[in-house]
Amino acid sequence: MHFDSPIVITNFKTYKEATGTNALELAKQHERLANELQINLAIAGQAVDLQMLAAGVSIPVLAQHVDPVTHGAYTGHLPPDVLKPLGVDGSLLNHSERRLPSEMIADAVSRLRENGMFVVICAETASEGFQFMQQFNPDYIAIEPPELIGGEVSVSNARPELIKEAVQMIGAGKVLVGAGVKNGEDVRVATELGAVGILVASGVVKAENPAAVLRDLCSGFKKS
Ligand code: G3P
Repeated sequence: MHFDSPIVITNFKTYKEATGTNALELAKQHERLANELQINLAIAGQAVDLQMLAAGVSIPVLAQHVDPVTHGAYTGHLPPDVLKPLGVDGSLLNHSERRLPSEMIADAVSRLRENGMFVVICAETASEGFQFMQQFNPDYIAIEPPELIGGEVSVSNARPELIKEAVQMIGAGKVLVGAGVKNGEDVRVATELGAVGILVASGVVKAENPAAVLRDLCSGFKKS
């Protein structure tokens, strides 16, 4: 299980194509390609599928969100303490579609770290990402301009200056980018500007052939 860069993290969101048995099949496609290409691929599954995904594949499985609580009298929460023993490796936090107040990010990071889990904090701007890095020291900051999420135009095409600014402010080796990412060229541009990985959703999940898209995405990483 590798959570090193370069890395592609596919966020399954609540897409039907990435729910239940579809989620497991998609996860296995990621696993096969990760092994074949020797590239780090990770997935962020839906809460209801996390246990199955963690048991079903050897690549990193992340939650899309966790709640900053532990075992106890907490109704309808998703605590890291419950996820870790199931084999879940970490979590996204503060995704644009699941924003959190700063105090909750702080507590969620503490609970994840106490469980030895990975932390990816999403940010909408470079300065927000910088602030989160200073405050919470996550494994990665994922920069995603909200207006480009789920769209046809990628962050690499529309906002290359944002990627550069984020890398300058947050530091080499720490920045993932996402929103509208569809192909290897998007990955090539993002990594040339200093990003160490990609957070992607619709481009993979909604593709007719997700494995072919993943393969193309991975081709954008410079061979070392
Ligand atoms: O978490 C990844 C995401 O928000 C980007 O979504 O569909 O633009 O790849 P998408």
